[in-house]
Amino acid sequence: FAAVDVIRAKRDAEPLSDAQIDWIVDAYTRGVVAEEQMAALAMAVCLRGMDERETARLTAAMISSGERLELRSERPTVDKHSTGGVGDKITLVLAPLVAACGAAVPQLSGRGLGHTGGTLDKLESIPGWQADMSTSRIAGQLAEVGAVVAAATEGIAPADRKLYALRDVTGTVESVPLIASSIMSKKIAEGAAGLLLDVKVGSGAFMKTRPQAAELADALVRIGRAHGVRTTAVLSDMSTPLGRAVGNAVEVAEAVDVLRGGGPPDVAELTVVLAREMLSLAGIDGPDAPDPAAVLSSGAAHAVWQDMIRAQGGDPDAELPRAREVHLVEAERSGVVAELDAFAVGVAAWRLGAGRARREDPVAHAAGVRCLARRGERVQRGQPILELHTDNPESLPSALDALAGAVSVGAAEPDRQPLVLDIRR
Ligand code: URA
Repeated sequence: FAAVDVIRAKRDAEPLSDAQIDWIVDAYTRGVVAEEQMAALAMAVCLRGMDERETARLTAAMISSGERLELRSERPTVDKHSTGGVGDKITLVLAPLVAACGAAVPQLSGRGLGHTGGTLDKLESIPGWQADMSTSRIAGQLAEVGAVVAAATEGIAPADRKLYALRDVTGTVESVPLIASSIMSKKIAEGAAGLLLDVKVGSGAFMKTRPQAAELADALVRIGRAHGVRTTAVLSDMSTPLGRAVGNAVEVAEAVDVLRGGGPPDVAELTVVLAREMLSLAGIDGPDAPDPAAVLSSGAAHAVWQDMIRAQGGDPDAELPRAREVHLVEAERSGVVAELDAFAVGVAAWRLGAGRARREDPVAHAAGVRCLARRGERVQRGQPILELHTDNPESLPSALDALAGAVSVGAAEPDRQPLVLDIRR
């Protein structure tokens, strides 16, 4: 094959053959196909799409570009992936909760890029906690504790690693076949028997509308099924931040509150819905199966959390880093908060230092936003509604810019929006 012929075919809206897809993914991984050629192909896929067969084959080719883990456990294994949101600390509560209910949760995770945070960045705000683990240590912790959240090893889907970095800088992230094959190639290569996908919908998510999110969810479920992985996708709201905390250490603190039976109700609610789906995927769903809501309030999930953090070198009782500067944003009028926009809060937290602009940048663990008032809550004029945490006061003006128009206060209660919008199996 010649790369230019594959690019021309997709440019002209022709389906690619299995052999063309296998060849280009392999040649790109080996550096034989140039970055600019793969960028042109990614743009052609963005504009022309891929059908179900092509998407399945692209996923399979990316899985084959690297190793496949077999994370076996005596308990049924089930993994979770979120397409990324603002204040999405759900994994921190969910992984120990599902383990406390009897499944094994091996979750290999990524770092955040752009305005959506990464689970590893959040956990790394815990003194001593290590994300990098060998496969044998992951397997050992899975057997002993039941839950592991660790960095994906270099050997998992290297084609996706290269392609995702390229898409990120060429305006080619937003394509259902490319997103679906990217997520599923990593998750299938990690070897879990069941997979729950939390597909976020709204301003703070990749997918801004429900039809787009449903299309992605269905593509993800189809690919999972084709590879023998039991897969369910939950569509959940990301038009406003989850919980009150957005950042790294502030989100860990909030997750621990939820693990102790407190914290914001929406975080607990979504965690319990996702836990039920994960347990069902793991086959733990009979009449005698544990109820995740009861397990969460019993403190059993908190105990697993502490074991999980200690097993990875962290001190669950250590004080979390605090920002040098805390700036308050006050309500401009009295009334009910009608809007608190997820994207704006995510960008503000990112600019305060919670996120990174380039893959190699460090994150500021103490940086972030705490939403003192949330959608539907009553506020008085002059009352603090947002708390901006940063170590770098020079970032405050640009964070405040991002928040312009993000909060609106009205006279009437806004309509309640459901948190869980749909479940696709
Ligand atoms: N997350 C991924 O892993 N890949 C994408 O393409 C988008 C989100």
